[in-house]
Amino acid sequence: MFADVVERAGYGQLIPPLLEDLGVFTRIGDATDVVTKEMYDFVDKGERHVALRPEVTASVCRSFAQHRPTVPWKVFYSGPNFRYEKPQRGRYRQFDQVGVEVLGVDDPYLDVEVIALAWEFYRRLGLERVRLVVNSLGEPDDRARYVEALRRHFEAAGDALSEQSRATLERNPLRVLDSKREPDTVFIESAPQISSFLSADAAAHFDAVQGGLAALGIPFEVEPKLVRGLDYYRRTIFEFQGGTLDSAQNALGGGGRYDGLVEALGGPATPGVGFALGVDRTLLACDDEGVFASQPVELDAFVVDVTGGRQAAEITASLRAAGLAADRGYDNRSMKAQMKLANRSGARVAVIVGEDELAAGTVVVKPLRTTSDQVSIAGTALVDHLRSVSATSSTSSTGTDNT
Ligand code: HAM
Repeated sequence: MFADVVERAGYGQLIPPLLEDLGVFTRIGDATDVVTKEMYDFVDKGERHVALRPEVTASVCRSFAQHRPTVPWKVFYSGPNFRYEKPQRGRYRQFDQVGVEVLGVDDPYLDVEVIALAWEFYRRLGLERVRLVVNSLGEPDDRARYVEALRRHFEAAGDALSEQSRATLERNPLRVLDSKREPDTVFIESAPQISSFLSADAAAHFDAVQGGLAALGIPFEVEPKLVRGLDYYRRTIFEFQGGTLDSAQNALGGGGRYDGLVEALGGPATPGVGFALGVDRTLLACDDEGVFASQPVELDAFVVDVTGGRQAAEITASLRAAGLAADRGYDNRSMKAQMKLANRSGARVAVIVGEDELAAGTVVVKPLRTTSDQVSIAGTALVDHLRSVSATSSTSSTGTDNT
């Protein structure tokens, strides 16, 4: 479904490697936990220092810097990432993401397009409690001035700040805003806001993004204290928050602009914007909201063959080739044992082949979900017969759903 949403918007699939040179990921920022504490890195047999990817954006930018495709380069991806974490609900050491990245475009309406794609994906899944929060971190100079102001603000709090936040302050004052610890809240409330530090250009960019989202009818909240866990962001950042997970894990997905990253990886100065959505957390949100619409495949037939198994092999193959869903018993087990499996499989009918049927070229079709009588038919008529059984029962089950 994700591919369908983004391919219709002109995004092509990229399959970046799971393993990259460590240097690719250290460009994410050496003040982030993802780089300093959570990376699975090791020296390989060729003495190369490599890492399992903790995220995909840096790999996409490395690939762009290396291959220099024409811009705009619009790609999407899906797959596993690895972060050394203390596993808990919604936080895993291996987790999946789907995401998009666009390189080579500075336009604020691209930020809107990217956000709208994620929004459309959640909407199609049926999730209704997802909140979109947005913020701007400004240009690097704006951000640097803001970080300095934050540092002064939190340093003035001294020992009243939690011990963990005092340690965070040393490395990355922005991340103190993320603290959910009780002693920190009052200082976070009174902290300076990035909006007062934005340059005219960054403010205009952010205004255009908000206007674009409003024009598309996408509800959002500006969250001036929103910061992200990765250091490469500039200007627009955003997060999709679920209503049901613990607050530390409530980010279902997020993204933003990272205009300096390609350059940091050895490529030309190139603007970039994208997002990644956590598949695991999105599935948990689907469970919590009870929206998972996909039904398990229902079997049309379960083939019971007590003549050795070859008939079952041929019949199931022909049913599957005809587009029907079919399973079978194996190991030439007794009629009783195979019928037990047939009943448990949930199939509409059992197709039974005994020695008499084998000799006559027929099969017995026994309904498993109704009390209708079993019938004996020519093997060659089986596909048509099952199609008519399927059509009748799906009509009647639609009728039941509607009542
Ligand atoms: P991120 O916020 O680090 O951003 O991760 C995106 C999403 O991946 C999170 O919102 C969350 O749903 C999921 N996620 C992250 N860590 C875990 C974990 N340990 N267990 C389960 N799920 C997790 C990025 O990765 C950026 N590369 C996003 C981006 C793309 N920015 C621009 N382009």
